[in-house]
Amino acid sequence: MLDVKQIFDLGIKLGIAADPRGQKGIKKYLARVKKEYDALKPEDKKYFDTDNLTNPFPDSDIHVNDKKASVKRVLAGIDINGPEILLASQLGERNKKIDLVIAHHPEGKALGNLHAVMEMGVDMGIALGLPIHLAEKIMEERMREVARSIHAGNLYQVVSVAEHLKINFINTHTITDNMVHTFIEKLVAKQRPETIGDMLELLLELPEYQEARRMGFGPTIFAGSPKNRLGKIMIEMTGGTEPSPKVYPELSRSGISTIVGMHMRKETLDKSNESQLNVVIAGHMSSDSLGMNLFLDELEKKGIEIVPCGGLIRVSRNKKKK
Ligand SMILES: [Fe+2]
Repeated sequence: MLDVKQIFDLGIKLGIAADPRGQKGIKKYLARVKKEYDALKPEDKKYFDTDNLTNPFPDSDIHVNDKKASVKRVLAGIDINGPEILLASQLGERNKKIDLVIAHHPEGKALGNLHAVMEMGVDMGIALGLPIHLAEKIMEERMREVARSIHAGNLYQVVSVAEHLKINFINTHTITDNMVHTFIEKLVAKQRPETIGDMLELLLELPEYQEARRMGFGPTIFAGSPKNRLGKIMIEMTGGTEPSPKVYPELSRSGISTIVGMHMRKETLDKSNESQLNVVIAGHMSSDSLGMNLFLDELEKKGIEIVPCGGLIRVSRNKKKK
């Protein structure tokens, strides 16, 4: 049986294996964080979270860990708020003890650090053909914007409930976004859809998207038509949150024809339309669920029971193999 830290570390390992920057890119990133840490003055060093020297995903963290739990049952959700933590506690009173709650979206310090993972978008943009200066400058501006918008939030409200109720609590954000990103990338490389219509069909082969469609939020075309050819695709399933709208005209000029993402804000869609890009939106909860499921399947293989909540469309790919 795994404990909380071992589960989180397994997540980091899987997240690194699926990272679009590759192992080398992660090593380079961690080396730079270490250099920055070493250069800090002692009065600043005491505020530095040394977990960031080994965890390359600052938007994923352990929030509560009693260090005793051997985890047999996990309550997992896309969004974990106070009610889901209370649910974990109440399930415990009904002979269904929850040893750990796993959220996808960040809370606490991980939420405060969300902007930091967006840096990976620079490498992803460069890999797609963006000039380095554009990829860096546009992303730096957006990272500052995201950091400012989160700064005023009540970051520790949910963590505080978990602390009171002594519920172990972690979140795996970019860890599982990397997993869905790579999963879709491989699927596209294997099946080679030609048109927007083919892309939608491909997504709808996956049970998470089938269920989402039944529930009223299936994959959809935000821009373009089914007969349009996909051309060069940008898969946008990881990287913290949506990049700056300013990047889309540049992507279009660099040869990208279609964005395949989880969600898109209106101002971003407007910019995409100005650049004649096609936009396929796979769906937010469904895509986040797919990423979480790929991670949760690994826990299930180790004998851990998964109880879904908080928007998670739970699909186990283990059962099929039996
Ligand atoms: Fe999300």
